[in-house]
Amino acid sequence: MDAVPEEQSRRAARPKADRRVTVPEFRARKARGEKIVMVTAYDYPSALLAERAGVDCVLVGDSLASVVQGHPTTIPATLEEMIYHVRMVRRGVSRALLMVDLPFGSYQVSTEDAMRSAIRLLKEGGADAVKLEGGAPMVATVRRLTEAGIPAMAHLGLTPQSIHLFGGHKVQGREAAAADQMLADAHALEAAGAFGMLLETIPAALAARITAELTIPTVGIGAGPDCDGQVQVWHDLLGLLPGKTFLHAKRYAELGAAAEAALRAYTDEVRQGAFPTKEQSL
Ligand code: KIV
Repeated sequence: MDAVPEEQSRRAARPKADRRVTVPEFRARKARGEKIVMVTAYDYPSALLAERAGVDCVLVGDSLASVVQGHPTTIPATLEEMIYHVRMVRRGVSRALLMVDLPFGSYQVSTEDAMRSAIRLLKEGGADAVKLEGGAPMVATVRRLTEAGIPAMAHLGLTPQSIHLFGGHKVQGREAAAADQMLADAHALEAAGAFGMLLETIPAALAARITAELTIPTVGIGAGPDCDGQVQVWHDLLGLLPGKTFLHAKRYAELGAAAEAALRAYTDEVRQGAFPTKEQSL
């Protein structure tokens, strides 16, 4: 039977879905003008679903401190926890690029610290690449990681590990001087070897300018439609947490409400003696 038009257009939107997304492939997407799709995941089932859905890159984000552990910021995430989570995700990801965040405190003190932390994330966690937050001060670290064969993605804009410095979730790069600095940082990080650039919560026009000037792909979250790719946090995208929707997030499902309804039904049935029935009995 012929594919229906809607199915055909969905297929056209993901032409290289079967190709393994290596770091060179990630970079090549920009040259080919193909959008990069990235989502966070923190465990085996979510990794498996992301992989089956055809995303290009799975990020074990330090956002796990907020959405998995319930902390108000990403700051408490530890290196041990990141290794624990990336190992679970590794088992569910074989085609997508698997990236992991260097957590706060694991790379800021020295380049040596960054090297040791990144090596652990690749060796013990099985990650393909790391991501680290920061502009000019991270240039030497990105260079050292890259020289050692560790692919590094940079992260500019509203970098959540610096939330106390920003005084909250505020758009970054609005003023001309801040925008110029971000552009200069982006160029310096690219020159140091970063293979991609995550842009978070910055004006869409600035993201478009950075995207146009860099040869490496930009991936945006709250950075408008002109980035080379987009990333969303698992819990935001799937509507898992009540009352937690950022302006830049789109809830593609309401899984939290669905899960709560299922748990209520189970609770009611057990209390009423309606579960288990003969069907679930041996
Ligand atoms: O930790 C994280 O989830 C991130 C987001 C910006 C995608 O870095």
